[in-house]
Amino acid sequence: MKSNIKPAEGKLGILIPGLGAVATTLIAGVEAVKKGLSQPIGSLTQMGHIRLGKRTEDRHPKIKDFVPLANLNDIVFGGWDVYEDNVYEAAMKAKVLEPGLLNAIKSELEVVVPMKAAFDHNYAKNLIATNVKTGTRYELAQAVMEDINTFKEKNNCNRIVLVWCGSTEIYYEASEIHQSLASFEQALIDDDKRISPSMIYAYAALKLGIPFANGAPNLTVDIPALIELAKLTETPIAGKDFKTGQTLMKTILAPGLAARSLGVRGWFSTNILGNRDGLVLDDPDNFKTKEVSKLGVLEDILRPEDNPELYGDLYHKIRIDYYPPHGDNKESWDNIDIFGWLGYKMQIKINFLCRDSILAAPIALDLALFCDLAKRAEMSGIQEWLSFYLKSPQTAPGLRPENDIFKQLMKLQNTLRHLMGEDLITHLGLDYYQDLVETL
Ligand SMILES: NC(=O)c1ccc[n+]([C@@H]2O[C@H](COP(=O)([O-])OP(=O)(O)OC[C@H]3O[C@@H](n4cnc5c(N)ncnc54)[C@H](O)[C@@H]3O)[C@@H](O)[C@H]2O)c1
Repeated sequence: MKSNIKPAEGKLGILIPGLGAVATTLIAGVEAVKKGLSQPIGSLTQMGHIRLGKRTEDRHPKIKDFVPLANLNDIVFGGWDVYEDNVYEAAMKAKVLEPGLLNAIKSELEVVVPMKAAFDHNYAKNLIATNVKTGTRYELAQAVMEDINTFKEKNNCNRIVLVWCGSTEIYYEASEIHQSLASFEQALIDDDKRISPSMIYAYAALKLGIPFANGAPNLTVDIPALIELAKLTETPIAGKDFKTGQTLMKTILAPGLAARSLGVRGWFSTNILGNRDGLVLDDPDNFKTKEVSKLGVLEDILRPEDNPELYGDLYHKIRIDYYPPHGDNKESWDNIDIFGWLGYKMQIKINFLCRDSILAAPIALDLALFCDLAKRAEMSGIQEWLSFYLKSPQTAPGLRPENDIFKQLMKLQNTLRHLMGEDLITHLGLDYYQDLVETL
């Protein structure tokens, strides 16, 4: 049965708290693609195909031609930041993209000026904020809602989505104020410091029925109160933490090792990066949030409790060091100690010279477009099918996340087939041979 999906009519506003390296690379990229200056490489929604029906049917449309997604020409960007720089200035400072490209789209970028941020210095101590709102948390949430409504009206948008591209917040766990919508709303009024800035944006969006995706590892929408609100206002949510760089490699490689029943004794991962994200992560409290997000991946894929002989002694260590000379060009090293037949040891070394924001920007775009699709398809609450893009996927309470990127892709594609009334694909394929036997 094909779902009743509302068409992607009119303009889609993508509003971003945090106009730093990832957000400016996303915005500049979309503007460059619109002008025909570049290609949206790395974006599944723009470049990816999907197989439909039996292999003999040879149907492989582009995803964007299969599901009704917003067209890039219909996207308008806006956002908030604790600094005043417009997107052109911020992109120049982030030094991800070349000035030549940025100058070719300067007028499109300059008009995106950050709105004043809902911020609390305690959540990112290494930032010196100058462009911030004042008031209690309740007042900040109201002000963010006002910003969203004003933006929507001014830009004549039909729909809005929010994607958090703000700095990683310090590590925190859910407490009693996060357990229900009623206690959360009381805590907003009480200006309770346990409500983080990202939660204020998320609350404001969800209250207005606007989808929210979280690109950072902080909990944000991954708390019962905001899951309740998402259900109440029939709004999709997705998180946490864009899956780029080292973790992307891990979730590609680890399923392969596990598939062949090869043992893993140790996995040492170290990174150096010198952008503003690296500066924030230089604070141990902020690093802890990232570490927790990155650590879960291997255990979920390898399942040491089911495979004690192969993964029971796995030692997994992650380091991130701030190293300004590298800027946004993060470099990572992985040393993987594996063992095979009869326990014989082997090693794999990976040295990934990646560009963090180049990998993250298409993810942010796809999350925005798919969250908008989900809203129009009347899917609400946690969108686990988007875990393909996320390091630490949000799942239903008590449900173990799926981190294997290949299973995540299958889940995403089957969700799209399901929405469009196409057969789900199991890859069983026995029917091809059944037909062969019958015709012989
Ligand atoms: N680059 C990647 O590959 C990647 C991968 C996974 C996750 N992430 C996460 O995405 C986020 C953005 O990364 P980035 O490289 O663009 O970092 P960045 O430091 O360049 O940008 C973050 C921006 O958020 C702003 N900010 C902080 N708190 C804010 C608030 N309360 N309201 C509005 N703005 C706020 C900062 O001023 C900064 O400009 C980070 O949390 C990072 O951990 C990035």
